[in-house]
Amino acid sequence: MTHQSHETAKLTIGDKTLDLPIYHGTVGPDVIDIRRLYSEGGVFAFDPGYTSTGSCESAITYIDGDKGQLLYRGYPIEQLAAKSHFLEVAYLLLYGELPTAEQMEDFESRVTNHTMLHEQMAYFFRGFRRDAHPMAVVCGIMGAMSAFYHDSTDINDAWQREVATIRMIAKMPTIVAWAFKYHVGQPFVYPRNNLDYASNFLNMCFSVPATDYVVDPILSRAMDRIFTLHADHEQNASTSTVRLASSSGANPFACIAAGVACLWGPAHGGANEAALMMLREIGTPDRIPEFIARARDKDDPFRLMGFGHRVYKNFDPRAKVMKQSADEVLGLLGIERNPTLQVAKELERIALEDPYFIEKKLYPNVDFYSGIILDAMGFPTSMFTPIFALARTVGWISQWKEMIEDPQLKIGRPRQLYTGATLRDYVDVENR
Ligand code: CMC
Repeated sequence: MTHQSHETAKLTIGDKTLDLPIYHGTVGPDVIDIRRLYSEGGVFAFDPGYTSTGSCESAITYIDGDKGQLLYRGYPIEQLAAKSHFLEVAYLLLYGELPTAEQMEDFESRVTNHTMLHEQMAYFFRGFRRDAHPMAVVCGIMGAMSAFYHDSTDINDAWQREVATIRMIAKMPTIVAWAFKYHVGQPFVYPRNNLDYASNFLNMCFSVPATDYVVDPILSRAMDRIFTLHADHEQNASTSTVRLASSSGANPFACIAAGVACLWGPAHGGANEAALMMLREIGTPDRIPEFIARARDKDDPFRLMGFGHRVYKNFDPRAKVMKQSADEVLGLLGIERNPTLQVAKELERIALEDPYFIEKKLYPNVDFYSGIILDAMGFPTSMFTPIFALARTVGWISQWKEMIEDPQLKIGRPRQLYTGATLRDYVDVENR
């Protein structure tokens, strides 16, 4: 809840002075309310990339980029990663508080009982080419859910919103696992409700009818941690996309599909895939200086993937946990000597000592390590971003739910600084 300060920001435009209210959040920088800027000042604010613009009021996730701090509903990500598990974190993000044992049991049972997809959806998967990128499939299937679950598309009905919420969280692992199975040409594996959320996902990805598959608890814990660390991240590009799409009143499945589409880009969720491909391209530690030099070269568009963040100007706290998880998983699988990991460790060491990266505050982000873990688990790089989407679904839904329940909800409609042609008359083709 915002608190208006007694101070105002004075803005002088020509002969007009506007007194703009200043609001305090519970923590973090104050904001200046510029909603009257156009009606009273006749000007718009200009902020491409929204580097200084708060687009909404939110009580879900807080990031302090200078401290390298990430809080879900006030709880530090490190504590949640160590002591909680993904479905408990999902409950926390959605409903605001940690659940009691009873509430957890009820939530877990509701999620577990909605993991199957409408059988007709299997045919929908089969309409894609086998070599389609799994992100394209996940995006298409998520959008198509509105064609399969008509009874949970009315955003004005609280019960339907809740059903859509549970459906998306429950079915996303099945969707992502089936996109994987389809991609590798294996039969779809149905969900098993006797397994926990992460183990069920791993089972749907790696078991085949011909042989038994037993989920290793260390791998399932690492998977669950990847889900927890990616669950929400404040008003990032894909979350803002979900909010913008839902501001028009679009159905929940369409809005989350929009989030999946935005996440795909290499500057956002696609960075985990791009980071691993880059590590493989580097190949051996002796080639690292060549790539560092390219990253520093202003005339070369190359960037070190998995480094840098819009908000974190200190270490990404998710990366610290992920790094520890990577060591555990690679230790279990006995592949600490994996060449990609050797390149990753050496690249991290060199970049952290390099004046360019120090000066620009470019630290490894979560995607730098998550790809290494997923690769070791046996996922192809094309599955990295779909797994990020699976985890982020709960964040997108929490933010969507918060927005729909906000009485101040308004359609998102940014303005622009127009630099095109001014009024001119149409010229017939023979006179051009
Ligand atoms: N390698 C080399 N130089 C970089 C990098 C990088 N990875 N990231 C930023 N820079 C430089 C950039 O060239 C610019 O230099 P200058 O001031 O001389 O023009 C300066 O640092 C600031 O960069 P920016 O693009 O203005 O910063 P931004 O806040 O707009 O971008 C970013 C943030 C994440 C898009 C960017 O750091 C990047 O492209 N990183 C690589 C992609 C990546 O790993 N993305 C995953 C983000 S974490 C997962 C998620 O939350 O989605």
